[in-house]
Amino acid sequence: MSKAQEIISLYDQYVMPTYGRYPLVFVRGQGTRVWDVDGKEYLDFGGGIAVNVLGHAALADALAKQANILVHCSNLYYTEPQGLLAKKLVELVGVAGKCFFCNSGAEANEALYKLARKFGHDSGRYEVLTFVNSFHGRTLAGISATGQEKVKKGFEPMVDGFRHVPFNDLDAVAAAIGPKTAAILLEPVQGESGITPAKPEFLRGLRRLCDERGLLLMYDEVQCGIGRTGEFCAWRVVAPDVVPDAMSWAKGLAGGFPIGAIWARKPFADVLGPGTHASTFGGTPLACAVALSVIEKMENDNLMANARDLGAHLMAKLRTLPGVTAVRGFGLMIGVDTAMENRVLVAKAAARGLLLVPAGTQTVRFLPPLNITRSEADEAFTKFTQALGDA
Ligand SMILES: Cc1ncc(COP(=O)(O)O)c(C=O)c1O
Repeated sequence: MSKAQEIISLYDQYVMPTYGRYPLVFVRGQGTRVWDVDGKEYLDFGGGIAVNVLGHAALADALAKQANILVHCSNLYYTEPQGLLAKKLVELVGVAGKCFFCNSGAEANEALYKLARKFGHDSGRYEVLTFVNSFHGRTLAGISATGQEKVKKGFEPMVDGFRHVPFNDLDAVAAAIGPKTAAILLEPVQGESGITPAKPEFLRGLRRLCDERGLLLMYDEVQCGIGRTGEFCAWRVVAPDVVPDAMSWAKGLAGGFPIGAIWARKPFADVLGPGTHASTFGGTPLACAVALSVIEKMENDNLMANARDLGAHLMAKLRTLPGVTAVRGFGLMIGVDTAMENRVLVAKAAARGLLLVPAGTQTVRFLPPLNITRSEADEAFTKFTQALGDA
């Protein structure tokens, strides 16, 4: 038995089969490259599904430094990294507000649902409108919020209080708002269903409706946030004037170390008061110090500008390919449609040494680190072209 088969058989025997995995076993990464157990090199443009914003093996110094000082002490106390990270995130949003820290995207969205419910509680409102083809995570409330039937199947009944409305359809949203509605939650760029940006006019219309009807406008920036689109917040690319009331982050925030967070603007920043919400591991000094170091690197190396430049470069090249029917996205959050089934194309790309991620049924995603070089973008394009041509 090869080493790869040996490791896969460990999963077969001991790991719950919740994922449809590719038969690739990785042992090491450096920058934009990873190596499998047989020593084969891959250009990683999946980025761990929009997580590894600085690439591989980029966190060691920050991790080691903080690990030698203080890893965890609970939220019964104060630590400087959590306070500094909250301050930094509020500055990056550019609107006065406060943050809450947790460990994942689904958990960050849970905090948004609770914020919406607490906000609406005294007026008997608890419903959150979400969108068809959205994705908000795999917790019970997460699959209830998600606008895709496949994630709910077998787990019914869903958590009460979520309704799905067609994306980019303002009339449908206006018609769906009822006496129980407290908030609207959307991804400014839908990720899992195939990289579909909200239309600027749609966001403006949602803001208007929320203001008229006293609802919270909440953005799920778990996948599209943290600089990937060329701005720290994706909504700043879609419609920079449409400021939300609250927002969630995770994935790239600490470049691969687990962390999630929400931000809410004043006056909603104090809705979740003492004793109303918590997470044992939320905002540990270790996670926050790593996130701070990731953001510092992104700023010092102008990585959001790099995402804008190389994203535009790569998208322009992808649009020239005969097999490509559509290219959508901003910065280094790119969705490419082809006639080929996406999982097949992703497997072909991997065989050519390029890691990509499927979305929906016809879309493959390019979600590389934000510090890729032009030659790496060109190399990915060449490998993708070869994969498209492979019968
Ligand atoms: C937009 C969005 N929200 C939430 C989540 C859930 O994040 P996590 O897997 O960290 O719980 C994801 C994950 O893909 C996502 O893309």
